[in-house]
Amino acid sequence: MQTLEVDLGERSYPIHIGDQLLGRGELFGEHIGGKQVAIVTNETVAPLYLDRLIDSLSGVTVTPVVLPDGEAYKNWQTLNLIFDALLTARLDRKVTLIALGGGVVGDMAGFAAACYQRGVDFIQVPTTLLSQVDSSVGGKTGINHPLGKNMIGAFYQPQAVIIDTSTLSTLPPRELSAGLAEVIKYGLICDEPFLGWLEEHVQALRSLDAAALTEAIRRSCAAKARVVGADERESGIRAILNLGHTFGHAIETHQGYGVWLHGEAVSAGTVMALEMSCRLGWLSAADRDRAVRLLARAGLPVTPPADMTPEDFLRHMAVDKKVIDGQLRLVLLKRLGEAVVTADFPREVLEATLRADYDALLAQLGV
Ligand code: NAD
Ligand code: GLY
Repeated sequence: MQTLEVDLGERSYPIHIGDQLLGRGELFGEHIGGKQVAIVTNETVAPLYLDRLIDSLSGVTVTPVVLPDGEAYKNWQTLNLIFDALLTARLDRKVTLIALGGGVVGDMAGFAAACYQRGVDFIQVPTTLLSQVDSSVGGKTGINHPLGKNMIGAFYQPQAVIIDTSTLSTLPPRELSAGLAEVIKYGLICDEPFLGWLEEHVQALRSLDAAALTEAIRRSCAAKARVVGADERESGIRAILNLGHTFGHAIETHQGYGVWLHGEAVSAGTVMALEMSCRLGWLSAADRDRAVRLLARAGLPVTPPADMTPEDFLRHMAVDKKVIDGQLRLVLLKRLGEAVVTADFPREVLEATLRADYDALLAQLGV
């Protein structure tokens, strides 16, 4: 097992990464303050891993809360199902919530923990690659609103993140690729050598090679922990973690939540951010193409949906959380491994990026 630390003063916590950690009850016990635990999971993950986790916990009563599965359920109605279950079981302020599942479960259980009786402890047990490398770390919790992705939520840090890499063995390939979008993101924004490593290991990762997955998760979590440690509440540098997300969230919202996976939308959105960085004269065409090839080799979409117009993008992008005083800010690349958050770009360059012919770009790359 490897352990990293998210360094946030009194809110610091460990990230444990290893094989078969669901069976290591003592790891969980260290972070459970009372005698009550509620495990929030969903209909897909529960049959796979709920019993294994319950069996490893001792000396506590466990209330399972099994939610419907899907991004389309990341909303108030589903959140309320968690509160219904906690109140029905009369769980008190010493309860520890455990989020067992992907990013949807983690974001909702974390938000429920932030709100229930004004805040109770919670542990993230992410079971998708995306949630293991990104959403379980850093304390962003919340739900979607029909008008905007992740628009309702709270910053609320867990007591620990416990990553059992063996859970990835049941993950569908499409979901694995979606997680790789966020892994590649770390290389693009802050770790150029990691891109080289990913180029060498992308096939191993897609074939679920355990050593390669552990290394990708460790390196991604280390990058995320560094950025979150420097700027917990996104007053500055943390926004670089949103490379591709402003374009991507527009895709997710426009298509309907769950139609494109979050990581897929981030991938196509990242290609748009690369293209814009290139048009601004910051990123070379060769570096843009290198990154697009890697995303494509990871099994990800690298063109935006054909049915979305520039006006569709602009409408959805206007409700991004990085908009301040009506001004849109974007995460762009100065070069591979160096991201900036900026509002300082000509509007025409954004519009040209939205109108660009991505199919032609792909055809030229031969991917
Ligand atoms: P997800 O939670 O919908 O999980 C993907 C699918 O895999 C679901 O059907 C799920 O039930 C299933 N699944 C989960 N674990 C499995 C396993 N081990 N085996 C088989 N199936 C399994 O999606 P996701 O990609 O994990 O997360 C996406 C969500 O995370 C989005 O809502 C996004 O906004 C959010 N997110 C949050 C942050 C953050 O900082 N909080 C960061 C990135 C993404
Ligand atoms: N996924 C973006 C963040 O955690 O800040």
